[in-house]
Amino acid sequence: MEAYQKLLQKNKIWASEQVSEDPEYFLRLNKLQAPEILWIGCSDSRVPADRITGTQPGEIFVHRNISNLVVPTDLNLLSVLQFAVEVLHVRHIIVCGHHNCGGIAAAMEHKSHGLMDQWIWNIKNVYRIHRDEIDQAKTEEEKRHLLTEYNVKEQVLNLAKTSIIQNAWKNQQLPHLHGWVYDLRDGIINPVFEMPAGTSIDPIYELNNL
Ligand code: CO
Repeated sequence: MEAYQKLLQKNKIWASEQVSEDPEYFLRLNKLQAPEILWIGCSDSRVPADRITGTQPGEIFVHRNISNLVVPTDLNLLSVLQFAVEVLHVRHIIVCGHHNCGGIAAAMEHKSHGLMDQWIWNIKNVYRIHRDEIDQAKTEEEKRHLLTEYNVKEQVLNLAKTSIIQNAWKNQQLPHLHGWVYDLRDGIINPVFEMPAGTSIDPIYELNNL
């Protein structure tokens, strides 16, 4: 059996299990989507947002891309962000990176990966901002770990630079922003950075006419 066929088979088993445990399960979910959390994570197959957080369908609104980046020209990310903040009114946004991330490793190398170079470029920018701290690490692995943490921090800062977040902070005192790193070696998520709603940002990014 091909991998994709297994998905369909397992889906049928899962759906019938849900109904036997709770006959109203799909009726309820079908009516309402009210997640309190937006998750911006890496596309890596080993970091499924709901599995590693023990959450159920309906609890997290999810956006994933390579190395969990918040790029201000990314229409996909911005659309998800605007919908999550202005329509769903999420209370928290989590940017979750992970150790042993392929995008982070690629950013530390000097190799072309084709089209993806333009995406990885954003991670190289994070390295450039934090080069002094990162280069103090002794091993390449430690450097990648540090870049993973600084990358998450910079992506949270990028969220705060958007008009969507600044507008929401001004009018709703929400959402709170969190930067986390998931450790593939033990399955534990470590919070590394936090911006409660209303945290001041570098003045050059302040939008005072919202
Ligand atoms: Co990754």
